[in-house]
Amino acid sequence: MITALAGAQWGDEGKGKIIDIMAAEADVVVRATGGNNAGHTVVNGGKTYKLHLVPSGILYKGTVCCIGPGCVVDPVSLLKEMAEVKANGTDLDGLRIDPRAHIVMPYHLVIDELSELAKGAGDIGTTKKGIGPCYMDKAERTGLRFYDLLRPEIFSRRLREMLDNKKKYIVGMFGEKAYEDRADLLSYDKILADYTAAAEKLAQYEADTTVIAYNAHKAGKKVLFEGAQGTLLDLDMGTYPYVTSSHPVTGGFCVSGGIGPTLIDECIGIAKCYTTRVGKGPFPTELFDETGDFIREAGFEYGVTTGRARRCGWLDLVILRYAVRVNGLTGIALNKLDTLTGLPEIKVCVGYDCDGKILTDFPADIRELEKCTPVYETLPGWTEDITKATSLSDLPAAAVGYLAFIQKEIGCKIILVGVGPDRTQSFRVDGVTAD
Ligand code: GDP
Ligand code: IMO
Ligand code: MG
Repeated sequence: MITALAGAQWGDEGKGKIIDIMAAEADVVVRATGGNNAGHTVVNGGKTYKLHLVPSGILYKGTVCCIGPGCVVDPVSLLKEMAEVKANGTDLDGLRIDPRAHIVMPYHLVIDELSELAKGAGDIGTTKKGIGPCYMDKAERTGLRFYDLLRPEIFSRRLREMLDNKKKYIVGMFGEKAYEDRADLLSYDKILADYTAAAEKLAQYEADTTVIAYNAHKAGKKVLFEGAQGTLLDLDMGTYPYVTSSHPVTGGFCVSGGIGPTLIDECIGIAKCYTTRVGKGPFPTELFDETGDFIREAGFEYGVTTGRARRCGWLDLVILRYAVRVNGLTGIALNKLDTLTGLPEIKVCVGYDCDGKILTDFPADIRELEKCTPVYETLPGWTEDITKATSLSDLPAAAVGYLAFIQKEIGCKIILVGVGPDRTQSFRVDGVTAD
């Protein structure tokens, strides 16, 4: 049984929490895309785990947690994260890293920073973790992979080659001074020493994760694919160019996780009951008023990776319908219903007004999206504390009505509702319909 879980919005939908819950019954959890630009939160019994590249199934002893072929790995940062996980009392025996995964190098971080600076006000607002430049090398077929990192004769030669190339690139693109100012970060000896030390510690985790996932599936075990980022950050399907450089949609699990599409049994989208985004780019339902501030504070909407305040707005059903379509969703998990408690009324975007024409399909280009204004339906709010709810019958009628409205509009069954950050503050449902 293979379940694919993907973010349905602009990331930070609460994927970490849902994976952790579902991993209780899983044998294998696979991250297939992205790197430590992701920040996935798991809260269990008062302890908060902030995971970036380590899969969110790690809290269960015996679960195999794979960093798959399409991920990009910053080995130094991964070791730091692993040390934090260990310090929290969790062992890493189940961790596996695919030899195909590309390595984030110090020059990727430098180029990420310099290209954002060079773009000025037109910057993307990346996490500055070197993700885009690492995927650029991968597409250019010059990248270094985990396989290379673990083999000193290959790594030392390729590092020399890449540092020569990157010096020319950085000087050519950003000037001699930009290079000189960062030359200490790009020293051959230092990188060789740091990365060789990291390789020695990580070597024990090398494994072909595509074989692990396939064999587990064949043996009737449960495999979860853990999405990073979200549908609208997908390189093809997202709000290009304000996207990440990988494929967070469910199809990305096939290509980047090495699993054939017919092997996936269910595709679950994860969304919040409102919308957030970090970084730049269009966001039709963004709120610039006290309601936006209320959502940010009530939902604690601050980035796990960068600490940036997240932009907040009403739920956008044009986006969720799009996510249902492009991910082939068979179900949706809706998090953070509790965050909306106390709002007298709740608006939901059901379509876009684009130059007088009503659109219900998400536009392919951001220049069209920028012309869109949301068409809202207004639903009643509720004031009751719902953070201890364990079934739909514990929710006020207005909250059930809100969920039922969403399900009807997007044509996809709600399978789980989140009412708080803890592992225990979610309950499964078999769809939500109004009485
Ligand atoms: P991810 O990147 O999709 O894993 O999500 P993040 O961890 O970046 O952001 C989600 C935030 O919402 C985290 O702080 C979670 O602990 C929190 N969270 C998840 N589900 C719920 C929920 O149902 N209610 C509340 N109040 N917080 C939640
Ligand atoms: P999780 O997995 C939210 C955003 C960045 C920026 C854009 C490109 O926690 O949901 P990048 O560093 O990837 O080149 O940045 O993508 N971004 C995320 N936003 N959640 C994430 O991950 C993100 N990963 C990248 O803010 O707008
Ligand atoms: Mg996150």
